Amino acid sequence: MRYLIDSADVEAIRKTISFYPVAGVTTNPSIVAKSGKDLKTVLTEVRSVIGPQRMLHVQVLALRAEDMSEEAKRIRDFCGENTYVKIPVTEEGFAAIQKVSAAGIPVTATAIFTPQQALMAAVAGAKFAAPYVNRLDNIASGGVNVAAEAHRLLQMHGMDCEVLAASFKTVEQIHQVIMAGVSCVTIQPEFFAKLTSHPLTDTAVADFVSQGKRYYNL
Ligand code: G3P
Repeated sequence: MRYLIDSADVEAIRKTISFYPVAGVTTNPSIVAKSGKDLKTVLTEVRSVIGPQRMLHVQVLALRAEDMSEEAKRIRDFCGENTYVKIPVTEEGFAAIQKVSAAGIPVTATAIFTPQQALMAAVAGAKFAAPYVNRLDNIASGGVNVAAEAHRLLQMHGMDCEVLAASFKTVEQIHQVIMAGVSCVTIQPEFFAKLTSHPLTDTAVADFVSQGKRYYNL
């Protein structure tokens, strides 16, 4: 199981990493825009916070396959190892996924709304496929089910590609996607605490401290 942070908020990333086991960070043009910083500045900051070992997923902005491939090379050169280039699954995107993957740059296929898009991306060479769970739920199209079917398709056909489920607005969506077998999710920083905090845990800890403190002299 791998949890990634879907954000370019450097302080939030730093704080989340200090507490939780984080496998990497995912961004897209909207997330970069929200940071208010230019792409290279924010990627430099994020990379320095997460270190060289964690994954960094960065999306292309170009629309034509050739331009996407050029942008992918520039992203990879700039961000270094463990960088995945995110490419949306348009027709041009599928052409780019093939080119970029063939050039040895790992690809995350993104903006996925159907299981077949995920399978096609995997066949094209993508290493991750990112279905947008909440955006599907927003149009009553069963985001969890789409992510689950994408996961089953990739497994059933022995693809070297994993579902990296994205676009969450509730803990229940995250829980159900993971229960369906998806083992990679990218979530906003605040979800790490929402997934794991419980008042009874806090009560238990407070009781341990008050009852044990007279006897603990290590
Ligand atoms: O990584 C992008 C994806 O998470 C989109 O999320 O919240 O804009 O639907 P959202």
